[in-house]
Amino acid sequence: MEKKISIAIDGPAAAGKSTVAKRLAETLSYLYIDTGAMYRALTYCALKRGVDVNDEKGLMNVLNDTYIELKPSERGQLVFVNGEDVTELIRKSDVTNSVSYVAKHPAVREEMVKRQREFAKDGGVVMDGRDIGTHVLPNAEVKIFLLASVEERAKRRHAENIARGFPSDLEQLKEEIARRDKIDSERAVAPLKKAEDAIEIDTTSLSIDDVVSEIMKIVEERVGRE
Ligand code: CDP
Ligand code: CDP
Repeated sequence: MEKKISIAIDGPAAAGKSTVAKRLAETLSYLYIDTGAMYRALTYCALKRGVDVNDEKGLMNVLNDTYIELKPSERGQLVFVNGEDVTELIRKSDVTNSVSYVAKHPAVREEMVKRQREFAKDGGVVMDGRDIGTHVLPNAEVKIFLLASVEERAKRRHAENIARGFPSDLEQLKEEIARRDKIDSERAVAPLKKAEDAIEIDTTSLSIDDVVSEIMKIVEERVGRE
């Protein structure tokens, strides 16, 4: 395929965004940008420095001191803050349960969006998050909104936690995911929302391969029109 386009993948927690986005990026030789990992990285640093998740100024001080890198590797995408590999640490429950409070602050989002657009400026990107199609990359040529039932998403995250050796409780996960979706959908700035021109895919009973091939068809059709 010739023209390098931008692909935005949004949706609620554990809908399969990052798994699918990574696979698409590999297939297309595009850059994969996990914006959730950026909010998680900031949350990790703030918790480490004892900064309250409601203290926007304190969070901005941390963010201004924090250089976040997303590096592809054979083990998947690695996340570094100021040179420290935090790939696993940012998936732990203390970060997961605080990140949506950190991501509510307008100043935090403004700076993150600036960094995300800079990463994406040359096109050829697959970016996943909550506000990519609506706000970060409103001109993305392909916009996908992934959904799945909260039960299915909790099951997926549970299996992932077990594989990572993290403690995990399915019922608790269901509640945490629902709480995070609510905060993300109700915040004032760039909430989780399907862009008007996004294509919605309910992945509840679809495999990863099914989802990837459905999106690849959309991408090929779109690139063919460019
Ligand atoms: O992987 P999971 O769906 O659990 O979450 P994530 O994509 O790593 O995102 C973690 C959190 O970051 C979300 O719950 C949002 O609060 C926030 N986020 C956001 O506000 N905007 C984005 N573009 C991406 C993530
Ligand atoms: O990025 P997001 O939080 O939306 O989800 P993810 O981390 O990509 O996916 C959560 C888990 O669900 C992963 O372990 C995937 O392998 C799994 N998954 C699945 O079982 N079926 C799908 N159709 C998509 C993802």
